[in-house]
Amino acid sequence: MPSLPLGVPSDIDPYFYNRKKELISLNSFINTLNQNVANQILVTGYRGVGKSFLLKKFIKDIPDNILTAYIDISHIYGTQKGNLREEQIMQVLLEEMNNAIRDEDDILKKSYNAVKDLLWKIRKKNYDFKEAGSILGIAIPDINDNYQKLSKFVMEYPQKIVDKSDGQINGFVIVIDEFQFIGTLNSPEAFLWLFRSSTQEQDNVSYIFTGSTSTTSEIVDKINGINGAFGNRMIQFNVDPFTKKDTKSYLKEKVPEIQFTDSGLERFYNCTRGYPAYINSFCNIMSADIIYSEKEVIDEFYGKLEQVAVKWITTWSSLSNHEKCIVSTIIENGPLKWNELLKKVDFSDGTLNKNLIKLKNKGILSHSDKLYKIDDHMLSAWIKYKKEQDGFYPP
Ligand SMILES: Nc1ncnc2c1ncn2[C@@H]1O[C@H](COP(=O)(O)OP(=O)(O)OP(=O)(O)O)[C@@H](O)[C@H]1O
Ligand SMILES: [Mg+2]
Repeated sequence: MPSLPLGVPSDIDPYFYNRKKELISLNSFINTLNQNVANQILVTGYRGVGKSFLLKKFIKDIPDNILTAYIDISHIYGTQKGNLREEQIMQVLLEEMNNAIRDEDDILKKSYNAVKDLLWKIRKKNYDFKEAGSILGIAIPDINDNYQKLSKFVMEYPQKIVDKSDGQINGFVIVIDEFQFIGTLNSPEAFLWLFRSSTQEQDNVSYIFTGSTSTTSEIVDKINGINGAFGNRMIQFNVDPFTKKDTKSYLKEKVPEIQFTDSGLERFYNCTRGYPAYINSFCNIMSADIIYSEKEVIDEFYGKLEQVAVKWITTWSSLSNHEKCIVSTIIENGPLKWNELLKKVDFSDGTLNKNLIKLKNKGILSHSDKLYKIDDHMLSAWIKYKKEQDGFYPP
């Protein structure tokens, strides 16, 4: 049985396929840092399309004179059991920015050690370091829970590193993955504005925000909508699924042991729609002893859907009852307008609105042409299948 990664593997190159055009675009947006022009970037794309893998590959291959940091806000959200606060994001950001200069010399090595110490004190809740002064000329926050000072420090840090590097470093690229979780903060607007206002004053720091959220979600609007923090000034960049041709060459290159007839391959593409996440989880249950015709692909796909759809089963079980009700109502009726949806669910318009926002932020629903639709095709396939099999939607 083949073994393709279901998450983003730490050993990237043996598994990463193509995305040459996307990498060229990303490189050109970031190259301007060498001329003191910093672009801010928003990478969108459906769940499982390969955004995280693409960005990890991108930052791994960036030249040494551009530093990089990567944070995943869903991890912080997870470790805080869903109670995300601004300060925790800032701490992780600072830690990752600092790790980028771990191997530098002289003045940067000194700041690395000083910030490491600072982080340790923040974690230990040690309030007594008022005499510490400054790092790279930025005042050190004097108390642990002084969020404003901590955030000012963190926002200034990457540009200061570039400034003090004596021409060795031309830029800093910071990837913020699963950024839609920012939407769960008390004031997402204020948090996003912090980035906007600091990037306005910095010529060598590029942020790349990305996450599994629909382009019509409220959080995308808050970050880059007309009235959002970046007010349409971010470069918005969408990652698409593999084309049919890409899917075929991907399979040939990574899992040559799986054999298809032409129509079998065609059906495989229809089942997975070119999403690498689905392609990988489907391939992992396929056998090298069968030549897959159309019928065999269908049998295998539905026969083992539970195994193909593990990731989506977890997503489903993490939803609240209200969210589940909305999703199953749309699956049952097809895309619905807001007032049609309201008629079919048995809760108030306020509750409906709140939950629609959550589902859009999670990349499960989208809203376009006045219709609410399911974005996550695999989730939808699995739920439909369960209903057919069991007679009811999964609990
Ligand atoms: N270019 C690629 N080559 C090979 N495998 C890929 C590629 N892109 C993605 N994958 C595989 O597809 C799966 C999903 O990729 P990834 O986690 O990057 O998607 P995502 O868009 O970040 O999804 P999510 O929205 O759930 O975070 C992973 O298992 C990854 O290994
Ligand atoms: Mg991802």
